[in-house]
Amino acid sequence: MRNLLYIDACIRDEESRTKRIAEPIVAELANRYNVTKLALNDLDLDVVQKELLNKRMHGEIPQKVMAWAEQMRDADRIVIAAPFWDMSIPAALKVFFELCSIFDVTFKSNDKTCYGNCKAEKMMYITTRGMDIATGDELEQATPYLKALSWLWGIGPLQVVAAQNMDYVSAEVIEEKIAVAVAEGLQIAKEF
Ligand SMILES: Cc1cc2nc3c(=O)[nH]c(=O)nc-3n(C[C@H](O)[C@H](O)[C@H](O)COP(=O)(O)O)c2cc1C
Repeated sequence: MRNLLYIDACIRDEESRTKRIAEPIVAELANRYNVTKLALNDLDLDVVQKELLNKRMHGEIPQKVMAWAEQMRDADRIVIAAPFWDMSIPAALKVFFELCSIFDVTFKSNDKTCYGNCKAEKMMYITTRGMDIATGDELEQATPYLKALSWLWGIGPLQVVAAQNMDYVSAEVIEEKIAVAVAEGLQIAKEF
């Protein structure tokens, strides 16, 4: 079986609506993929600052970080579940990506530019947004960032499953939105 890396950036964990959408989709994909889950709440994520960068320049990369980067590189499929925070992704997820952005692992370069070194031909991004902001709206800065990063790392097309306006509707409507998003994700999962 091929490998699927599931990055769970649902910081609110059991309270998370995004997680409620992601879990049944990932469970379905687990019938066809070996799923490895990285729950960001469980990872010790160091912000990439001067000391860490200097060490990286000298090839000193913590073993746990190298293992995450290699998992990104080697996954056949990637699923990211992350709520919409401050018009983009949670900072913990950005930190995770910065940690994984290691030359000769997730990307390479020649004398002109960088190019990707990851294997995944498809990536799915599952999210919920508090306000009524649609995927592709100029106020929605998560999808453009993830598309750019997947370009840098050589990851195939990004498919987005999103529910929006979650903070301004009744509990009943929230449930409906979650059900619609799960159905949409399961549909994508058939060809994923
Ligand atoms: C720290 C934080 C930042 C947020 N920032 C935004 C935002 O910029 N725009 C927005 O539409 N909703 C924002 N929200 C609302 C969440 O996107 C919304 O409640 C979402 O459904 C939360 O997902 P979750 O239930 O998976 O945690 C924010 C919520 C939190 C906790």
